Amino acid sequence: PTFTEPYRPQFHYTPPTNWMNDPNGLVYHEGTYHLFHQYNPEGIQWGHMSWYHATSEDLVHWEHEGVAIPEEGNEMIFSGSALVDHDNTSGFADDGDPAPMVAVYTSHYTLDEPDPDTGAETDQAQSLAYSLDGGDTWQKYAGNPVLTHNDANFRDPNVSWHEESEQWIMTVALPEQHKVQFYASDNLTDWTHLSDFGPAGATTGIWECPDLFELPVDGDPNDTRWVLQVDLNPGAIAGGSGAQYFVGDFDGETFTLDEGISEDDTHWVDYGTDFYAAISWNDIPEDDGRRLWVGWMSNWDYANDKPTSPWRSAQSIPRSLHLTTVDDEIRLTQQPVEELHTLRDTHTTLDARSVANETVSLADDGIAGTTLELVAEFEPGDADAFGLNVRTGNNEETVIGYDTASESVYVDRTNAGEDSFHDDFAQRHDAPLAVNDDGRVKLHVFVDWSSVEVFANDGARLLTHRIFPDAESDGVSVFAEGGTAELTRLESWTLNSIWA
Ligand code: FRU
Repeated sequence: PTFTEPYRPQFHYTPPTNWMNDPNGLVYHEGTYHLFHQYNPEGIQWGHMSWYHATSEDLVHWEHEGVAIPEEGNEMIFSGSALVDHDNTSGFADDGDPAPMVAVYTSHYTLDEPDPDTGAETDQAQSLAYSLDGGDTWQKYAGNPVLTHNDANFRDPNVSWHEESEQWIMTVALPEQHKVQFYASDNLTDWTHLSDFGPAGATTGIWECPDLFELPVDGDPNDTRWVLQVDLNPGAIAGGSGAQYFVGDFDGETFTLDEGISEDDTHWVDYGTDFYAAISWNDIPEDDGRRLWVGWMSNWDYANDKPTSPWRSAQSIPRSLHLTTVDDEIRLTQQPVEELHTLRDTHTTLDARSVANETVSLADDGIAGTTLELVAEFEPGDADAFGLNVRTGNNEETVIGYDTASESVYVDRTNAGEDSFHDDFAQRHDAPLAVNDDGRVKLHVFVDWSSVEVFANDGARLLTHRIFPDAESDGVSVFAEGGTAELTRLESWTLNSIWA
């Protein structure tokens, strides 16, 4: 692979070849960010699930390390998390060994014969693998699995150290029951059931890949909440698979929703089609203090059909997570990590201008490209809609707009390029968004060879989409419909490839 194939993301992680889905085992250790992911060593469709390993020193450039935990016999290696067992609570390290890195994953077993009681042909349980050389080589724990359940669907264990109760906490999904379960352990091998959360929020599809973490509210370390995020497939806001979250408290035993938050309300992590199965990094050093994650930029509705070769799928850009009070609601907001600034190349700033019921190409202003970071701020004026078109050309465009009547930010990919692989791909998706207190709408956009990520009003709403435009479609334009909007700021950077 050259990493210049059609649609190959230039600043998003992809494996060199083959199928990828969920990020797994995100953990930081001694200067290295580890990213494992679901991977098919044998093909470009889902199957033979194994964990592939990649590493980065800067969250931006990635080294491919190869398969870390392979499928073997009747056991596929489904999603999970990784941690560093600093105090060797597991006893996996002998004297003189470094602290074990431990992967907690779901064993997906194909049964020799269907279960006599339920007729199930597969089973799932939680298992461990460990590395005594900082993640280079892995062995499966001889006592696997470490946690079973009488439900055939029981997966995606997410384990981290809970400071307050001084124990390992596992968050794990019962997908068909729309429940997240919490377990505790002193040694990673023996687990005690603590409690369940759910059903709640959106339950039209199965629940997968939970994540649980604590964040300050509006940056105040003395005012924190716990966030429980859980993925839903199908039935997400933009169709197919997507992510929801709950804000509350976790006391080492039970997750309780914040006062005033109803079990019936759904809070979406992202209003686009292509952000799924995100989990956050374990063990980010305290002096950094950020909570960081990536999500799988795909959707189970068409994941197997996307028109790329010899690899399939990408991870989102790394993002930091925050709780921010927006419209009297404590909302999960996201920001692109600052490390991405190192990719910035040609910088262009436009003078403020009115956009009067027109679409204006920015080619003459020197703004164009297939890998771009854009920051635009608009005052709505009397326009019905306004925004940016990106990846324009060859009779196509991806529209990033704001609709003043419905007060929503949207991405429209009805005419964004190749879309014949899935009937519902060519659509527009909206997210409710009030105009900022300063009277403006701010769009922070990352454009790559086959994706658009929109952080609206400083990450108050997210829209993540895959697009498959012509390689020649590198235009950017601004538009206003039904009136005049003021473009008060536009900055653009071309972004360098991480693979060059
Ligand atoms: C989510 C998921 C997980 C599972 C993995 C299998 O995308 O379905 O629940 O562990 O993918 O590849």
